[in-house]
Amino acid sequence: MKFDIVTLFPNYFNSPIKESLLAKAIDKKVFNLNIVDLRSFSNLNHKQVDDKPYGGGAGMVMRADILAACVQSLKKRGSKVILLDPTGQTVTQKIALQLSKETHLILICGRYEGVDQRFKDKYVDTQLSIGDYVLNGGEVASLVVLETVARLLPGTIGNSDSLENESFSDRQGGIQLDYPHYTRPEVFEGISVPEILISGNHQKIEEWRQNKAREATEKLRPDLLKRV
Ligand code: ADE
Repeated sequence: MKFDIVTLFPNYFNSPIKESLLAKAIDKKVFNLNIVDLRSFSNLNHKQVDDKPYGGGAGMVMRADILAACVQSLKKRGSKVILLDPTGQTVTQKIALQLSKETHLILICGRYEGVDQRFKDKYVDTQLSIGDYVLNGGEVASLVVLETVARLLPGTIGNSDSLENESFSDRQGGIQLDYPHYTRPEVFEGISVPEILISGNHQKIEEWRQNKAREATEKLRPDLLKRV
């Protein structure tokens, strides 16, 4: 799988990628990541990529022609173009799973007041948001999408069992939160590990975990149980 991230701040991505598990997956060639500097597609003075909005108003709008030239140079058959934008659909685990089946994602980090609508209409397949709040741009959001999708690719985290059981995975009975976890010491500040977990009875442990996951979801995120 290949990811292209289109941004005006290519250096921004250096540390978050180098310092994460993703770097190992890239080394292992689980996926390929290319950071694309949008400014390199501008022939204008000062490598300008934005301009004042028609109709007036505050801020600057990203130009459709420069974004289009960039996408045209990256796009192949089967590529999916995603614009990170607060007006998009909110990213969920289900969307991440769907995206992990694609072969090539082009993630475009929007900036400033917005992106020319004609680019959205002609070149963007999906707009994604990471929540109902406004960031200065799509860079953080693109990292969220990259990590949620890339960690689902076989070979990235190396333990498919932990992916199946984690929060938001679609299990029997719907989407649920994860069950509680415990490790050493066996007694911490007077609180013991639940006895069942040291019983060695794997079937009972599995039942206990399923019940706890259900309880946690009902208490903390009842909205998830209604989602299909
Ligand atoms: N750009 C600005 N805010 C954003 C958000 N909430 N999600 C994705 N991209 C954004």
